[in-house]
Amino acid sequence: MKILFLDQSGQIGGAELCLVDIARPFRDNCLICLFADGPFRKLLEEKKIPVRVLANRSIRVRKQSSLMQGIGSIGVFTPMVAKVAEIAWEYDLIYANTQKALVIGAIASLVARRPLVYHLHDILSAEHFSTANRRLAVTLANRFASLVIANSKATQTAFIEAGGRPELTEVVHNGFDPAIYHIQIQNSPQTKQHLGLERRFVVGHFSRLSPWKGQHILLEALTHCPDEVTAILVGDALFGEKQYVEQLHQKVVELGLSKRVQFFGFRGEVAPLMAVCDLIVHTSIAPEPFGRVIVEAMLCGRPVVAAAAGGALELIESGKTGWLVEPENIEELADAIAICYHNPMLAKNIAQQAQKQAIERFHLAAIEQKMTQLLRQVIDFH
Ligand code: UDP
Ligand code: GLC
Repeated sequence: MKILFLDQSGQIGGAELCLVDIARPFRDNCLICLFADGPFRKLLEEKKIPVRVLANRSIRVRKQSSLMQGIGSIGVFTPMVAKVAEIAWEYDLIYANTQKALVIGAIASLVARRPLVYHLHDILSAEHFSTANRRLAVTLANRFASLVIANSKATQTAFIEAGGRPELTEVVHNGFDPAIYHIQIQNSPQTKQHLGLERRFVVGHFSRLSPWKGQHILLEALTHCPDEVTAILVGDALFGEKQYVEQLHQKVVELGLSKRVQFFGFRGEVAPLMAVCDLIVHTSIAPEPFGRVIVEAMLCGRPVVAAAAGGALELIESGKTGWLVEPENIEELADAIAICYHNPMLAKNIAQQAQKQAIERFHLAAIEQKMTQLLRQVIDFH
């Protein structure tokens, strides 16, 4: 099977990390084309996955763009479609991993007469996308895709509710290699000391800094927690949310949290920092399509509190494998942090249950097998 993967981003987001895992088994017979240069290209090169950057300037259509703004970027799309179609002749299948990749991949699949698979990592709802963008994605997927892979049931449901054809869809969760997250517990106190976090109850937040990821909710919740409770924010603004980053820094000062919050920026490896956390929280204020960080925290054997919406509802059974709290509810989040702070044994038991379940449900080997089977079927039926 020869696969041409398309992704619009040069940045390393969750959809791109998922693509690394999907493409790796095909690395002798695949190419990933990116529509923007950046650290993602370097990561793929390190992993020895063939990559080619088709444009140095990213296509300027955002999730909330109107139809007119979309039409305005046709000048960039047309040469890109021609390039992708030309490359696609050498491949059996086009695999679009993002929305702009779908737009270009759809037309290219028509020109090159290759089947198209769309991996949907987003919830196509008004909270995340403009009406024009939702319609475009659904129309193109319905008309051109042979298969739409949804990263969760929540994502699948939103696609169908937006008019997507149900029979096209398959839910495939992200897969993870548990070995990467298997942390030697004895490392933690040393690292904690090294980071100046000894004798602190460390709450970790691992996400790009973006308003909908809700880091501000955690800052507010901290003011309702005992002084020993300290937060580490791991991640950076990936898609131009500089203003939000400034607001977060300002909020830390305004709330008197300067000694209780540390910003770590983007880290290539999250597991060593997850290891120093007593608790990991997820605070998205819009439904999370899947939520890799939730599973990663579970695999690291750390208790997790997540915002109860979207994919998170499929990952955590509240009170058994973590805690779910109402999105944007600061008091509820503070209460959940307090439960873990006051009941370390309970938190440990829950984290162990979650780790066991995460290894069973999200093992990369099983997901790889399922993907290979699905892609083979698409090619055989074409
Ligand atoms: N991540 C990372 N370094 C960081 C912060 C986050 O590698 O400093 C990773 C994180 O471990 C996760 C991914 O970025 O695998 C984010 O994926 P998720 O599904 O949680 O959210 P997304 O940003 O894709 O919406
Ligand atoms: C997207 C979603 C995230 C998901 C990731 C991988 O970036 O925002 O929730 O975990 O894709 O599928």
